[in-house]
Amino acid sequence: MSAPPMSRRGFLGTLAGAGLAAAGCGAFPESAGRLLTSRLPLPAPFTVPLPIPPLARPVAPGRYEVTQRTAKVEIIPGTTTEIWGYDATFPGPTFELRRGDPTTIRVRNELPEPTSTHLHGGVNPPGSDGYPTDLVVPRGHSAHPHGGHPSHPGMRLNPVAKDYHYPLDQRAATLWYHDHRMDFTAPQVWRGLAGLALVRDEEEDALPLPRGERELPLLICDRAFEEDGSFRYPRAHDPHYMAGVEGDVILVNGAPWPVAEVSATRHRLRLLNASNARRYRLRLAPGGRFTQIGSDAGLLAAPVAHEVIPISPGERYDVVVDFSAYPVGSAVTLTDELAGDVMRFVVTRRAADDSAVPAVLSRPPERTRAVAMRAFDFRRTGDAGNAAWTINGRPYRPGAPLARPRLGTAEMWRLTSDFHHPVHLHLAHFQVLARGGRPPSATDAGWKDTVDVRPYEVVDVLARFDGHRGRYMIHCHNLEHEDMAMMADFDVV
Ligand code: C2O
Ligand code: CU
Repeated sequence: MSAPPMSRRGFLGTLAGAGLAAAGCGAFPESAGRLLTSRLPLPAPFTVPLPIPPLARPVAPGRYEVTQRTAKVEIIPGTTTEIWGYDATFPGPTFELRRGDPTTIRVRNELPEPTSTHLHGGVNPPGSDGYPTDLVVPRGHSAHPHGGHPSHPGMRLNPVAKDYHYPLDQRAATLWYHDHRMDFTAPQVWRGLAGLALVRDEEEDALPLPRGERELPLLICDRAFEEDGSFRYPRAHDPHYMAGVEGDVILVNGAPWPVAEVSATRHRLRLLNASNARRYRLRLAPGGRFTQIGSDAGLLAAPVAHEVIPISPGERYDVVVDFSAYPVGSAVTLTDELAGDVMRFVVTRRAADDSAVPAVLSRPPERTRAVAMRAFDFRRTGDAGNAAWTINGRPYRPGAPLARPRLGTAEMWRLTSDFHHPVHLHLAHFQVLARGGRPPSATDAGWKDTVDVRPYEVVDVLARFDGHRGRYMIHCHNLEHEDMAMMADFDVV
């Protein structure tokens, strides 16, 4: 396991850097991570049109094949950036999946390095969950585990390709997929290995929500660029970036601060924070409200209105914005209270709108009684020379589970932290029960798989362990923290 060397001084410097970058109020900085700035001139915001990732096309009913490849793409106008992409695109293609239609996705790796693909939010068997040491190894890559690193217990090397089986016995929701390779998730996702997967079902189809071109997936992430247009990123596990890496360019669906023309009607925006470390507090300028209809794991029982949406890495918010509230010709900017612009909508024309947000959206599964309570403390441990991000004082060790919940039960998990740690559970969906000993925030509503745990906060969640037995993970979704050992296994028994 790489527990990179880190001096106490270096670490404190890192946190101070994060503090300086913060625009939030209160005792602790609102932002996690350390800023990396680009070395080339950046485009003016709101000049590049919002791209919509292509839809993946099945090769047979219930079967897809996707190839991970490098490609040169134009992200900053006038320059090219080499990406690592699913089907050579960044973001990767969007998979439109249906509840009750089991699907197999064959991922072929033609990149220079091994990968592992995790369907984030998926209720999948352990062999298809994208475990960090269940690797797809490209042709010609040494059969040995990555050079210089010891082999991990339970490591599986799948030559060239792997079939991931997704039963899709789960509610409609905005899922996403991304690389999850042991020790190298952060740099590999930064290079582009991420995309969306939308699960649809009849419950959702029956609702009069905006659809078609009025349903926009918005994958938000930050990046920095070198002078030649390539992605800028520190060397893996650089202790200076232990807090996490933030870029100075905000990309939506892979385009810098893009602009989208919309009619003066309701639009459904599926917001995903796919950043390595950056948190956002999203708002609409010159004002307006988001009507939240769904959270990470599916539709809410009833809509909830928000002026601000805090979104940490890995989280999704499914919202409706009614652009008829703005005069035709106006610009409506999606901004981040912490760092500035994200993207802009320009309301270009009136149009008929037969969509609505019903007062009752769905019947999510009920909460059940917790049969156990467990505590997971997310914290930096270690001293000068060997600091690591740990859970319950332990750096990640594959195959050494911290918990053994029983299939079909629910447990209360108490999450505590020393910094911003967006905590993600594989397999299990959960509800936030309490935040800092108080009722959860309005933005904590619904069934989730990732929760924003802020510095010195205590967050209680009720997690259900349904679907499959086997080995899964709980980890911090700040990808640099994840690569610096802030993960643990749990076994569903
Ligand atoms: Cu989206 Cu284990 O991660
Ligand atoms: Cu963390």
